[in-house]
Amino acid sequence: MCGIVGYTGKKSAAPILLNGLRRLEYRGYDSAGLALSTEAGIRVEKSEGKVAKLAEILGDYEETPGLGDALTGIAHTRWATHGPPTTINAHPHGACPPGGGEAPRVVLVHNGIIENYKTLKVLLEGEGRTLASETDTEVLAHLVDSYYEGDLQQAMTKALAKVTGTFGIVCMAKDEPGVLLVARRGSPIVIGLGEDETLVASDAAAILRHTRQVVYLDDNDIARIEGAEVEIRSLDTGPVTRHPTEIDWSDDAAEKGGYAHYMLKEIFEQPDAIWNTIRGRMDADRGNAVLSGLNLNPRDLADLRRVLVVGCGTSLHAGLVGEYAIEDFAGLPAEVEQAAEFRYRNPIVGARDLVLSISQSGETADTLAAVREAVDKGALVAGLVNVVGSTIARETGRGIYLHAGPEISVASTKAFTSQVSCLLMIALKFARAARMSRERGMQFVREIEAIPELVRSVLATNDAIAKVAERYAKAEHAFYLGRGYMYPVALEGALKLKEISYIHAEAFHAAELKHGSIALLTEEIPVVAIAPEGPGKEKTLSNVAECRARGSKVVLVATEGDEEVDGYGDDVLWIPECPLHTAVIPATVALQLFAYHVARVRGCSIDQPRNLAKSVTVE
Ligand code: M6R
Repeated sequence: MCGIVGYTGKKSAAPILLNGLRRLEYRGYDSAGLALSTEAGIRVEKSEGKVAKLAEILGDYEETPGLGDALTGIAHTRWATHGPPTTINAHPHGACPPGGGEAPRVVLVHNGIIENYKTLKVLLEGEGRTLASETDTEVLAHLVDSYYEGDLQQAMTKALAKVTGTFGIVCMAKDEPGVLLVARRGSPIVIGLGEDETLVASDAAAILRHTRQVVYLDDNDIARIEGAEVEIRSLDTGPVTRHPTEIDWSDDAAEKGGYAHYMLKEIFEQPDAIWNTIRGRMDADRGNAVLSGLNLNPRDLADLRRVLVVGCGTSLHAGLVGEYAIEDFAGLPAEVEQAAEFRYRNPIVGARDLVLSISQSGETADTLAAVREAVDKGALVAGLVNVVGSTIARETGRGIYLHAGPEISVASTKAFTSQVSCLLMIALKFARAARMSRERGMQFVREIEAIPELVRSVLATNDAIAKVAERYAKAEHAFYLGRGYMYPVALEGALKLKEISYIHAEAFHAAELKHGSIALLTEEIPVVAIAPEGPGKEKTLSNVAECRARGSKVVLVATEGDEEVDGYGDDVLWIPECPLHTAVIPATVALQLFAYHVARVRGCSIDQPRNLAKSVTVE
């Protein structure tokens, strides 16, 4: 979604801001802009489309006096919510008093949504102010300006008292050059601490090149930044101390490293990403998982009544695998629920329920709201999160970091396989506190530790998968079928295909198809069926036969060497032999590659699919 970068220090701000925006491109956006504090006032440049277009407009800015020597600035990539993605709606938005001329006195960039912007707009227009855009953000800029009397911090504090909604804001005033004012409620803001400089961003990826020492703002924090000085106050309680933390992701990890797309790079990173997730968390001798971040001992686990897993999109699909594994191995009731549904349906949860919230970014608005609902209802709440220091990680207080490394591609790949690996470790820990024997636990540890190698075997078939994908790249619809542990795989495989190739793909429980949806099936609709060796395979193959009888071409995901599948598929993606609960991972990797190659052949924008954002911070 929208991205924010800010800089104040001793270097030229423009290249730092543009480079920061490029690092945020992966989040999805449709216009970009920046504002620089120059001797002649604040200069704002905006453009619809990509950051490259904005850079073109700026031209040879490094050589241009008043641009190249500007030492303070703010920048933004906008993912349209209020008003179309036009230049006029792009951020930054500026404001000046009625009759104050064209040049802005106050300029800001904003992530989030100002819910009462219409009421505020009427009030501001009543004061003679003219607003040019359709955005809620321009209203905010005018509101701050309406309180401005030479002290941006005071003006912002007064303005935010009138605002309902969510925001991550960075603001500058013409009369306070060198000062950035930053505030947060519900939309992440990270402050990067440099030697003679300070950077601000909505996502650490934008500032990693400059510093790894960061401070995360909490909700209702407001910070005044001048050079290297950062002073943080809470809008509720006055001055506060927020301790710096160090980010362990390298700047290189966020680069493509020779791959054509981030998605392909991240697919190929999975053996290492999964290993990083499980490393140091397996106790082979005791046949158990060591998950100290969960802060649950076997006695706590014995008291648990149920596990509720919440998440969205890919994280939700991982959660479904978790539900199966926790019930299967630990005998503990588990349910998975879409986070927004959980939040709004007044769920029955209490002190003996563990709510596991799964989120790669740790910032998904619906998942965060579900976390808060579960906390308010007194449940135990834990996070499975990739981004260290993210809001869900901080608000849950207990949980497990995935350590999968930065995931830049909008389509989630390595986060999913790390999430599933993590959920299998949780199932093991819960099972060992219940009825699972040490011997079975030791075997389970070996099964989990074998996952990176299983993934490597699938990656080695990349060329073969690419050839299969080429044969299906012209399809406009596709059905995915699976049952048991392979049902979430079908859901995730279909999601990958639709996100990046724009083929309409639907996943069904293999048994459900004939209860209605089979009416849609024609020769034009290929069916991807996931049927590795294990319980349920024969039944899925029968469902496959039903599809073939209607003329559909079938791509099977099957176990290497399984002769029973002969004659069922027009094409087969092979995965190595392994138990079904771990087969989820190699089967998903095969489908990630399948979707990737279909999208590649169709010439799609793989890393930044249309309309999508990497982290969905609005409801
Ligand atoms: O950051 P999160 O895991 O909370 O994100 C949840 C979904 O928005 C995300 O998984 C989305 O479905 C991906 N685009 C899937 O590839």
